[in-house]
Amino acid sequence: MFASIILLLICVVFIVVQLKSRRPKNFPPGPPVWPILGNILDLSLENPLKDFERLKKTYGNVYRVILADYGSSWKEQRRFALMNLRNFGMGKDSMEERIHGEIQYTVDTLEKSIGKSFSPQNMFHNAASNIICQVLFGKRFEYQDETMKTLVQCFTENAKIANGPWAMVIRSFTFQLTMYILDLHFAGTDTTSNTLLTGFLYLMNYPQVQERCQQEIDMVLEGKDQASSEDRNNMPYVQAVIHEFQRVANTVPLSVFHCTTKDTELNGYSIPKGTLIIPNLTSVLNEEGQWKFPNEFNPENFLNDQGEFVKPEAFMPFSAGPRMCLGEGLARMELFLFTVTLLRKFKFIWPEDAGEPDFTPVYGVTLTPKPYRMKVQLRVSQKIPNL
Ligand code: HEM
Repeated sequence: MFASIILLLICVVFIVVQLKSRRPKNFPPGPPVWPILGNILDLSLENPLKDFERLKKTYGNVYRVILADYGSSWKEQRRFALMNLRNFGMGKDSMEERIHGEIQYTVDTLEKSIGKSFSPQNMFHNAASNIICQVLFGKRFEYQDETMKTLVQCFTENAKIANGPWAMVIRSFTFQLTMYILDLHFAGTDTTSNTLLTGFLYLMNYPQVQERCQQEIDMVLEGKDQASSEDRNNMPYVQAVIHEFQRVANTVPLSVFHCTTKDTELNGYSIPKGTLIIPNLTSVLNEEGQWKFPNEFNPENFLNDQGEFVKPEAFMPFSAGPRMCLGEGLARMELFLFTVTLLRKFKFIWPEDAGEPDFTPVYGVTLTPKPYRMKVQLRVSQKIPNL
């Protein structure tokens, strides 16, 4: 008798779940859905990007996977983060000076490492983190500061937990506050530092690209103390290289998940209100037909026949639409000023004993290059008055 009641209950729950998740006729296609679990088992914990690629091949550009319900607290946190960032003075003119101030610490670190082989991971992470700390707390931390070290370590550890689709499941439980801080940290730090790490990995392994940047930088900045954002307009090649860093770095591969606020049509499919949308930026940044060289590191992707800088439509590492990255301006300023200032002063060399470079990224909420080591030399041909 007891067993029959349990069985009946299971059947009722099963039918309710099925009815609840009934979708419109024209809903995008996708893999078969398991009751309760949805499609969570179709996605790998380690790296769902390959699964998304596989699903795209089977079901086309718009397909559905069913995951856990997201809840509204997430949306509230985002709004809260946004408000905080706006209030704490992002995008003000003084930002450029703050970035230059931080770059000076990076230059000092590099000067101390001249001739040695060292890992740049913490250096870029600390620098990007300090810039966002200045935005959030109005102060920077010494690289050796214990608070800073603990902060970086905690965030790196948490980043491993908050991995891919499971992050949603975790988020919908109790880690609200941690996730909020994580959101801010990822937003301002991991993204920029991982892009720089990827960039310098490629610069060391494409020395001819590095040299061509340095020639352009020397020419445009001749007689100037330091670069400013406006110099971008006179550096088409450097611009192309930095954009190519971002394209291959593919730092936020699945962007941020969104939810439809009303019934919507997309590519002829009906998407009901309340559907979770996962934009696959990886597929746009590598799409055949959108890029001259989709599968290789090549700044020509952003240059026309006259050598002028052009930005193809498919370049959307900051995503698109009204919710696109709020820190784009700051991030682009950081990427430009760091790349230009460091390349002006140093030559970056892939250490002789480092073996073949491995460009395959490590998957997380952000993509990170595999840990690597670098060597630097002071450049002699620079014409810098005061650096
Ligand atoms: C190379 C660096 C960066 C990349 C590639 C990047 C990329 C992204 C992407 C893809 C999104 C999701 C947009 C969407 O929901 O459609 C995002 C959101 C966001 N980013 Fe960035 N980001 C970068 C740097 C920064 C920086 C430096 C900040 C500064 C604090 C920042 C702040 C934010 C914030 C606050 C959001 C949430 C916006 C919202 O929910 O409306 N990002 N970013």
